[in-house]
Amino acid sequence: MNTVDTLPQLRAAIAGARSEGKRIALVPTMGNLHAGHIALINQAVERADFVVASIFVNPLQFGPNEDLDSYPRTLAADQSKLLEAGCNLLFTPDAQVMYPQGMAQHTIVSVPGVSTGLCGGSRPGHFDGVSTVVCKLLNMVQPDIALFGEKDYQQLAVIRKMVADLNMPVQVFGVPIVRDHDGLALSSRNGYLNPQQRANAPALQQSMQAVKAQIINGNRDYAALFEQLDRDLQTAGFRLDYVELRDALSLQPADVQSTQLVLLAAAYLGSTRLIDNLIFDL
Ligand code: PAF
Repeated sequence: MNTVDTLPQLRAAIAGARSEGKRIALVPTMGNLHAGHIALINQAVERADFVVASIFVNPLQFGPNEDLDSYPRTLAADQSKLLEAGCNLLFTPDAQVMYPQGMAQHTIVSVPGVSTGLCGGSRPGHFDGVSTVVCKLLNMVQPDIALFGEKDYQQLAVIRKMVADLNMPVQVFGVPIVRDHDGLALSSRNGYLNPQQRANAPALQQSMQAVKAQIINGNRDYAALFEQLDRDLQTAGFRLDYVELRDALSLQPADVQSTQLVLLAAAYLGSTRLIDNLIFDL
């Protein structure tokens, strides 16, 4: 596996793979790779002949008081995991390569509708940063397919809409959440948790499972269900950011016609913000 950090090097490596008729997959990441990322690489290896991963901690998608500076950077460990998983090329641009004129004057790709509310409500500008950098990475690599984790469910919806609206010639695949033995969704941010918080963290998923079970059993008193979830989370030391039930396909608020639903939540344990979602049929 080669690691390249400039655009000419990237383009040369991609041109080589293309000239051999290879089907190219892109897995964009911010590094600090865990089994969730490796599941994306595994899917990419199955679906393509040449797998490109990118690692770029994108400053454009972090708010002023967020964890850009402390976000874990673990390049050597990431490289060995990618190599072992069968990745062919790693692109590790820096901000100068991605935003040569700086971010302030850069063109912004903004996806209306699905970017608002949920995480977009709590993190203003976040999804503009995501859609802009993903648009750039897709243009740089020009893959046949691109893979993203379903843990960032809203992000996946934003990217799907951007690709459709801009007629980008790439097929987007969502890959299911990978969970730890106790149900906690894998996330690079889990590493911020102290031992006590880590022990309490599965409560997020457990309280969501309880809501899901009630809904499947016919309970439609969402306000009461969400109040109970909030209480359960507070008992485990969380501060709820949001919990919502949405249509899994449109990401619009669920209505009587919704047959596939997604329960989405974000909550803070100390200063660490965790997100999770459960997709289910009615
Ligand atoms: O999900 C992530 O790691 C990031 O938001 C992404 C898609 C790599 C864009 O920076």
